Amino acid sequence: MIRSPRTSDIKAVFAVERDVFGTHVYPDFFFRQALDLWGDTFFVADGENGALDGYVIGAPCHEPGVMWVLSLAVRGASRGRGIGKALMQEVLAAMKARGITSAKLTVHPDNGAVTLYQNLGFEIITKDPHYFGENDPRLVMELRFTGALRSNPA
Ligand SMILES: CC(C)(COP(=O)(O)OP(=O)(O)OC[C@H]1O[C@@H](n2cnc3c(N)ncnc32)[C@H](O)[C@@H]1OP(=O)(O)O)[C@@H](O)C(=O)NCCC(=O)NCCS
Repeated sequence: MIRSPRTSDIKAVFAVERDVFGTHVYPDFFFRQALDLWGDTFFVADGENGALDGYVIGAPCHEPGVMWVLSLAVRGASRGRGIGKALMQEVLAAMKARGITSAKLTVHPDNGAVTLYQNLGFEIITKDPHYFGENDPRLVMELRFTGALRSNPA
């Protein structure tokens, strides 16, 4: 089930974060504050035995009408079952409900998630070879909310 997190979920969100990203992670207190700041665009996917399978966080931006998908993560063992896509659809629907005009995100050019995002309607708007520092490239992708969200890959 995809749902909004509670404060009692923060430990489990951080467990997903470490599981997925190793040591290059947001700190646990980031997630607690994300809940207060962006609670209506923060979603988790329930796993087994009280654990979580994944999470997604969306956040507002200085550009009017734009929000960013800050982070999307699904545990390795739970991938390929539609959880990542369901989390994305939930956060995009929540963003759209806020009346924004577009969603943006960054992704490493070699990350297979590029396909997931393209299938949801995102387009590459910038290719920055040094986005996170020297030789740490990211694509900036944007989804413009001009119509209904795609529920199926194009
Ligand atoms: C990216 C990620 C969230 C996808 O989660 P997931 O639950 O496995 O994705 P889903 O099962 O919902 O896949 C949805 C679609 O995207 C495609 N997709 C997902 N990951 C893919 C990959 N690595 N390569 C190619 N296609 C991929 C699937 O084939 C699927 O296509 P379909 O709708 O035609 O069946 C997950 O692999 C992950 O957490 N990766 C590590 C963290 C990460 O890279 N996050 C994104 C940073 S920008």
